[in-house]
Amino acid sequence: MPRHSSRCNPAPKRKSRKKAKLDASKDYTKDKDCLGCHSTGFGQPGGYEIGTAPGGAKALGSVGCESCHGAGGGYRDEHSKAEKLLKKTSESTARKVLVKGGQNFDYERACAICHLNYQGSPYKGAKPPYTPFTPAVDAKYKFEFDKAVRGKALHEHYKLKGVFSGDPVLRAVRAEFQKSAKELLE
Ligand code: HEC
Ligand code: HEC
Ligand code: HEC
Repeated sequence: MPRHSSRCNPAPKRKSRKKAKLDASKDYTKDKDCLGCHSTGFGQPGGYEIGTAPGGAKALGSVGCESCHGAGGGYRDEHSKAEKLLKKTSESTARKVLVKGGQNFDYERACAICHLNYQGSPYKGAKPPYTPFTPAVDAKYKFEFDKAVRGKALHEHYKLKGVFSGDPVLRAVRAEFQKSAKELLE
């Protein structure tokens, strides 16, 4: 099971809690300093709110699609429009319309916002609230994009049908993933 599907529960396990100097008696599951990275779209319109049932209808109670791909409201329609166009005319749509609609292709930055958000991090945009789990706490929390993006925490990949074309894509990663991608059942 990919790690990102674990439900919004920043309640620390005993060992890691001790290491990261978290308060053993505290309930962190409603803590705004934690939920930003342990749910989807916390503090943003339509995103996770304190009190939203974890894993509710919108499935925002964990790190979901929109955490990496961007809030879907602005680009969902572009996907269905482009699919219809491909079916009708065999034309693909410029991927730029997705960027305009807010779809994110800068995956390295998306990961960094959660995984590299601590003081002294190589990610220059780091700002509080920081993650309590840093390489200083344990070397296993060191985040390397090239390794992590190929790991089990990511979803499986499916063959893209050419609905979209052009930049921006992470070319090397895209090509590698597409090579071993599964056929999507219609
Ligand atoms: C800036 C983003 C961010 C914030 C803020 C954040 N976390 Fe996390 N948390 C992460 C990431 C990323 C991981 C996964 C780290 C890994 O395994 O490499 C993680 C992992 C964890 C884990 C599992 C660690 C383990 O090894 O067992 C716990 C527990 C946790 N966080 C609790 C909290 C609590 C409690 C807070 C609030 C005080 C919090 N987190 C705030 C990003 C964050
Ligand atoms: C919204 C915050 C967020 C984003 C964005 C995010 N992650 Fe995570 N990631 C987490 C948290 C929190 C965990 C800990 C497990 C959990 O709670 O789901 C985690 C766990 C992981 C793990 C498992 C760590 C372990 O030790 O088992 C890997 C690998 C990982 N993420 C890779 C990535 C990659 C690659 C990206 C970008 C493409 C990314 N993550 C984007 C928050 C995030
Ligand atoms: C942890 C970050 C992360 C999360 C969460 C995530 N994705 Fe992705 N997704 C990626 C990355 C990285 C790629 C590979 C980028 C590429 O091929 O250009 C990708 C690729 C894709 C693709 C292109 C085809 C493929 O399979 O590679 C689709 C479609 C997609 N994701 C949909 C989703 C949906 C739907 C969800 C939620 C159920 C989701 N993603 C959740 C990071 C994420």
